[in-house]
Amino acid sequence: MWAFWTSTLANVFLLLQFAMRFPAIHVSLSAAKQFQNETDRLALLEFKHQIYDDPFGVLNSWNHSQYHCQWEGVTCSTRHQRVVALTLMDRQLSGTISPHVGNLSFMRFIQLGENQFHGEIPQEFGRLFRLRVLNLLKIFIFHTNNLTGEIPSSIGNLSSLTTLALGYNNLEGNLPSEMGLLKKFAILTAGGNKLSGIIPASIFNCSAIIAISVPANSFHGNLPTNIGLTLPNLEGLYLGANKFYGNFPTSITNASGLEVLDLSRNKFEGQIPANLGDLTNLIVFDLYDNLFGNLFH
Ligand SMILES: *[C@@H]1O[C@H](CO)[C@@H](O)[C@H](O)[C@H]1NC(C)=O
Ligand SMILES: *[C@@H]1O[C@H](CO)[C@@H](O)[C@H](O)[C@H]1NC(C)=O
Ligand SMILES: *[C@@H]1O[C@H](CO)[C@@H](O)[C@H](O)[C@H]1NC(C)=O
Ligand SMILES: *[C@@H]1O[C@H](CO)[C@@H](O)[C@H](O)[C@H]1NC(C)=O
Ligand SMILES: *[C@@H]1O[C@H](CO)[C@@H](O)[C@H](O)[C@H]1NC(C)=O
Ligand SMILES: *[C@@H]1O[C@H](CO)[C@@H](O)[C@H](O)[C@H]1NC(C)=O
Ligand SMILES: *[C@@H]1O[C@H](CO)[C@@H](O)[C@H](O)[C@H]1NC(C)=O
Repeated sequence: MWAFWTSTLANVFLLLQFAMRFPAIHVSLSAAKQFQNETDRLALLEFKHQIYDDPFGVLNSWNHSQYHCQWEGVTCSTRHQRVVALTLMDRQLSGTISPHVGNLSFMRFIQLGENQFHGEIPQEFGRLFRLRVLNLLKIFIFHTNNLTGEIPSSIGNLSSLTTLALGYNNLEGNLPSEMGLLKKFAILTAGGNKLSGIIPASIFNCSAIIAISVPANSFHGNLPTNIGLTLPNLEGLYLGANKFYGNFPTSITNASGLEVLDLSRNKFEGQIPANLGDLTNLIVFDLYDNLFGNLFH
């Protein structure tokens, strides 16, 4: 568990570091103005406009006397001065997420976890084709966003996306099958929502996937029998507290890097393969509260 989360978080921090490679801009304001992209600035102002509570005054720096690349939480690329990251985690911001964020077309990293955003995830996010990480999750603890509605199918347009973190909101409906179009998709965390339906087969077909974490939802259905072959890079599969059923996916032993397999509190049945020991990296193996008969044949 820890090894897995450490590596997941390491990925996130790696990306954060990546974002931070474009640090404060060392150009004079007048020089900066030549590069200043009005589209980005207006989109950021729209984002601010939809936030009605900011107890720490985080967005006070988002004012007209300050170049927008120097606003708190905003990171621009050094050369083109385009906004590439928006990182405002755990700032107790309340509001909705403006669809104008979809105009920040150079965006690679959005981290708005642990705030109190509510409302829906705008379809317009689907325009951020350079986006790698979309984190509206709490990963850690404390405050949780309260995003509602369905996950927009336009997520399938985010061809650079590696990480989608949407856990502990109030999202409902199905996972869009368009997610299966994302060739670089590695980490999906969406636990603690009201998501339902089956997990689209196309998602189990994304060979770059490292972790699927969707506990405490209402998903149902079987796991594909060939899951361990279609997801060879799988390290974590967290499916606890859903309504999955069917046989234990024996091919999972082919996913040799697997560290966490949590199928607890579902309705899986049948037999557990004897060659589980092939999974030498397995740290957490939780089958609690299912319908398995005799374990280990
Ligand atoms: C600002 O962004 C828009 C939209 O991406 C683009 O069309 C325009 O060329 C950019 N302007 C500058 C000065 O970079
Ligand atoms: C964002 O793009 C849409 C569609 O092109 C446009 O209508 C809107 O005015 C833009 N928003 C900003 C803040 O520039
Ligand atoms: C604008 O932001 C800067 C940087 O945080 C701050 O020093 C300045 O007081 C702000 N101006 C206004 C009018 O709030
Ligand atoms: C997503 O891509 C499809 C097909 O290219 C396009 O029709 C749709 O407008 C895109 N959605 C968004 C939100 O950009
Ligand atoms: C989350 O949003 C829903 C729907 O708007 C609302 O009923 C619920 O009380 C909210 N929960 C929290 C913790 O704010
Ligand atoms: C999964 O991928 C294979 C090979 O790329 C393809 O033939 C198949 O149609 C895909 N299945 C789904 C459900 O996307
Ligand atoms: C999957 O695992 C089985 C059982 O260990 C093995 O016989 C088979 O060759 C593996 N398949 C692949 C493609 O690695």
